[in-house]
Parts: sequence; structure tokens; C-alpha cells
Amino acid sequence: MKPKHHVFVCMNQRPEGHPKGSCKALGSHQVIDAFYGELEKRGLFESILVTAAGCMGPCMQGPTVVVYPEGVWYGKVKPADVAEIFDTHLVPDEGAPLDRLRIL
Ligand code: FES
Repeated sequence: MKPKHHVFVCMNQRPEGHPKGSCKALGSHQVIDAFYGELEKRGLFESILVTAAGCMGPCMQGPTVVVYPEGVWYGKVKPADVAEIFDTHLVPDEGAPLDRLRIL
């Protein structure tokens, strides 16, 4: 079955001190774990797909999360934000992007 949403979480890592930084250094591992935890808790593995991604561009605003098919980009996502992304954007039939984290 085609998922309702496909969520990409940047997991890119660069060497320490690299001028661009990286989402991994900003905590993306904890963020993707929070997404997997919510999927399990809510039983949504069939309707929402979460995929670890490489660099998507806005590294300094990471951890970066992109949601398709809407093409909504979130920046500086923290594990504590993930349940709100589900409640506001991913779960409701007429879900809307969470504006406070939106970068594109
Ligand atoms: S390292 Fe995550 S967007 Fe570049």
C-alpha cells in the first residue's frame, strides 16, 4: 500500500569541525528514533514511512526533516517536537504543517 506520508530525516555526518556541520552532530539520531517510536506507539507503519536520508541542503538548520507528498521542510527538529508533528501534520486527514518548525 502507498504510504500517506513519506518522512525523510537527514542522518548525514561530517567530520568534527567541518564548517557545514551536520544533522547527525545536531542530534538527528535521536530525532529519527523519536519518529520510529511514535510510529510504533500509534501503529502507523502502514500509512507513514520514515527513511534515513543523506544531506538535503540546509545543514546549519538541522536536524532537517522533509515530508512528502507535500514537500514540507522542517528545521532544528528536536525529539520533543516529533509527537506534535504527528498530531498536527501527519495523522489528521486535513493535517497542516507545523509552522513553528517549517523552513520551506
Ligand atoms: S547535513 Fe543534514 S541537511 Fe545537510
